[in-house]
Amino acid sequence: MRAVVVAVLHALAARLSEWIYDGDASVHQLPPWLDINESRVNLSYTLASRIEPTGTSSLRCDSLFVDLQGAEESYRILAVIFRGTTTAQDWIANAGALPDYDKFKDIGIGVHAGWKAVATYPEYVNRLRSAILEEASGTGLDTILFTGHSLGGAVAQVAALLAYTDDKLWRHPKVSKLLSGLQCITVAAPQPFSPTSHQQIHRENREEAAPGVLLAQADALQGMERRCTNYVRNNDLVPRLPGNVGFIQKMWDRVPFAVRMLLDLGAAPLPLDLGTLLKQDMGLGVYAPLCTTRLLNPGGGYENIGRTAAKRMLETHRPRDPSVSDTYLGVVEWNGFMAAQNEHRAKAYVNMVYRAVGARDYAHGHHDSFIEEPRKEYEYAGQQQGGRFHGQGRLTYTDSAGKHQYEGEFMEGKYHGHGRLTFPEANGNSVCDGEFESGRFHGQGGILHACGEKSTG
Ligand SMILES: *[C@@H]1O[C@H](CO)[C@@H](O)[C@H](O)[C@H]1NC(C)=O
Ligand SMILES: *[C@@H]1O[C@H](CO)[C@@H](O)[C@H](O)[C@H]1NC(C)=O
Repeated sequence: MRAVVVAVLHALAARLSEWIYDGDASVHQLPPWLDINESRVNLSYTLASRIEPTGTSSLRCDSLFVDLQGAEESYRILAVIFRGTTTAQDWIANAGALPDYDKFKDIGIGVHAGWKAVATYPEYVNRLRSAILEEASGTGLDTILFTGHSLGGAVAQVAALLAYTDDKLWRHPKVSKLLSGLQCITVAAPQPFSPTSHQQIHRENREEAAPGVLLAQADALQGMERRCTNYVRNNDLVPRLPGNVGFIQKMWDRVPFAVRMLLDLGAAPLPLDLGTLLKQDMGLGVYAPLCTTRLLNPGGGYENIGRTAAKRMLETHRPRDPSVSDTYLGVVEWNGFMAAQNEHRAKAYVNMVYRAVGARDYAHGHHDSFIEEPRKEYEYAGQQQGGRFHGQGRLTYTDSAGKHQYEGEFMEGKYHGHGRLTFPEANGNSVCDGEFESGRFHGQGGILHACGEKSTG
C-alpha cells in the first residue's frame, strides 16, 4: 500500500468515526476529496448497509464502499463504522464488566462481555457477511476498514477480531485474502480485550490442546498489533479504561473537595460514571490494549507505541495540553481532570489525526485547526459576544500552507451562516463561497459546486 493510501485510510477512519454521530449521516456530508501533502485523492461513497438503533440496542453500524481515485491509482475499501451509544453514561456504567473468556477461547483472548454483545449482534453480523461476500465475488475490493470513536472504536476492534476468526467467511477463498489484510483504525477507543494468561490456558485445555491455543494466541496478538491502530489524545480518560482505572483514580484524587461535591450533586456534565467505575476497579486491570497505540501529542505529531508498552504508557500523565479548557464556570482549576475529559471529543481527534498524517479536508471545516487552538496567531475584525466571534466578522491567519481568510457570519466562534473562505492550495487559492454550518461548508445543493472553484488570487 502506498503511503498516500495509508494516510487516506487513517484520515478517513477518523472522519467516518465523527460522521456516524450525525443524525441523518448522509454520505453527502463526507469529504469529496482529501489532500495528502501535495496529492489529491478523490473520494466517492456508496452505502452498503445501515443498522439503526432499536429499543433494545443502541448500536448504529454503517458500512460504506469508498472509492479512492488518486493521480496514480484507484483503491476500493469497505468501511464498517460503529457508533456505540451517544451517552457515555450508558456504557461507562457497564465498563466494569468482567471479560468473557468463551467467545475467543480458541485463540486465548477474553473480551468485554457488554461490548462483545454489541459487536456480535446477529443482524449486524449477517448483513456484514453478505456485504463482504457479495463484493468479494464481484471485483476489486482492496481492503476492509473497521472504525469508530470511543465505545464505537472498542466495538470495531471486537468486530475486527470477530471477522478475523469467522469460519464461514474465511472458507471463501477471495474473502480470506481480504480479511487477512483488514485494517482497524479507531479513535479514543477503550480497551475491550484481556489476553488469557498462559497458566489459565494450560488449566482450561487438555494437555495436548494447550500448545495450539498458545500458538493461536501469539498469532492473534501479533495480528491485532499489526492491523489495528487506536489513536489516543494526550490524557483522554476513555482510552485508559477499563484496564487503567488507577489513572482515573489518581486524577480524581487531585480534584478539589468543593468541586467533587458539585460533581456529586450532578452540577457539572461529567461523562464518566466515576462512582460506579471506581467501585468496580477490582479485577479490571486484566484489560489491555491489543492495538498499536498512536499517541497524539498536543503540539502535533504522534508516537507509535506497541502493545506491550502501551499499557504502561497509558498509566502515566502527560503534560497538559494548554489549548484545552480546564475550568468549570470559569473559576476552578481542576488539575487537568476537566481537560482530560474535554480531550475526548471526536472533532478534535479528526483535526489532530489529519494533522498527524498530513491530510486536509477544506470542504468540511477540518482545515481549520484555528477553532481547536485558541492561541494561534490571528487577526479578527468584527462582532463578538461572550468573548467569542459572533455575528459579522473577518478572520485571517497564516499557517505553513499560507494565508487563510474567512469573511462572513460567525456563531459562537464558528463559521456559521453566509460566508466566504479563501485558503491556500498547492497551485493557487481556493474559495468556498456560500452557506456554512458549525464550521463546515455546505455549499448550494452540494459540496463540489462552490468549494474547489479556483480564484485567481
Ligand atoms: C506528508 O508530509 C509530512 C511532512 O513532510 C511527512 O512526514 C509525511 O510522511 C507525508 N505523507 C505522505 C503520505 O507522503
Ligand atoms: C478529482 O476530481 C476532479 C473534479 O471532479 C477532477 O478534475 C480531477 O481530475 C480528479 N482527480 C483525480 C486524481 O481523479
